Amino acid sequence: STSGNDGAKRRAGESAAALVEDGTVVGLGTGSTTAYAIRALGDRVAEGLSIRGIPTSYQSRALAREVGIPLVTLEDATPTVAIDGADQVADGDLVKGGGAAHAREKVVDSSAERFVVVADESKRADALSHPVPVEVLPDAVPTVEARLREEGGDPTLRAAVHKDGPVVTDNGNLVLDCDFGTVADPATLAATLSPLPGVVEHGLFVGLADEVHVGTATGVDVERF
Ligand code: A5P
Repeated sequence: STSGNDGAKRRAGESAAALVEDGTVVGLGTGSTTAYAIRALGDRVAEGLSIRGIPTSYQSRALAREVGIPLVTLEDATPTVAIDGADQVADGDLVKGGGAAHAREKVVDSSAERFVVVADESKRADALSHPVPVEVLPDAVPTVEARLREEGGDPTLRAAVHKDGPVVTDNGNLVLDCDFGTVADPATLAATLSPLPGVVEHGLFVGLADEVHVGTATGVDVERF
């Protein structure tokens, strides 16, 4: 999605892309902020940088191909660095999955030696309160909805924008956006959600980020964890 924050998103994305070293493998996240990093990496490849990318979604694969980044899979290589966006950032912990790509993103981002988050200031919060996307096997939606309510959540099946019916992920699953209010203890909530039968992956990324590059009106704030 585009917004009035495009300059800040671009600064964050370009700041992360500048960290990438020759000969490395780069996890390519999803979303409008990471897209600026992927485009900047494409520019560097055109100037001679040698990298291989591991995409996290249909969107990031298509963009990486468009800008000329050679692609591999996790069978071929482990990411040296992963660059990915977030829907909310608090103290290095994230809510992700606004693009319904969080399952593959978590696999790629958590396997990287260094995970760099890119965001504009509007994503920064004192505590996580954004609804948590939960990717669910289609048949398990009723049972997972009930379990999420037992855990104090308010789940909503994510609807598609350009078709009638639900969003279907790149993996063929559905997404419940679950409002837990302010999440006092993200690690505990993450540990509660992960083992629920039918839950493929949730969008809480706790303790995974090594750096957050926050684009502002004039520059980039880098937070390290
Ligand atoms: C994709 O599922 C999400 O995790 C994105 O990384 C997140 O929504 C950030 O997207 P924007 O950079 O477009 O806000």
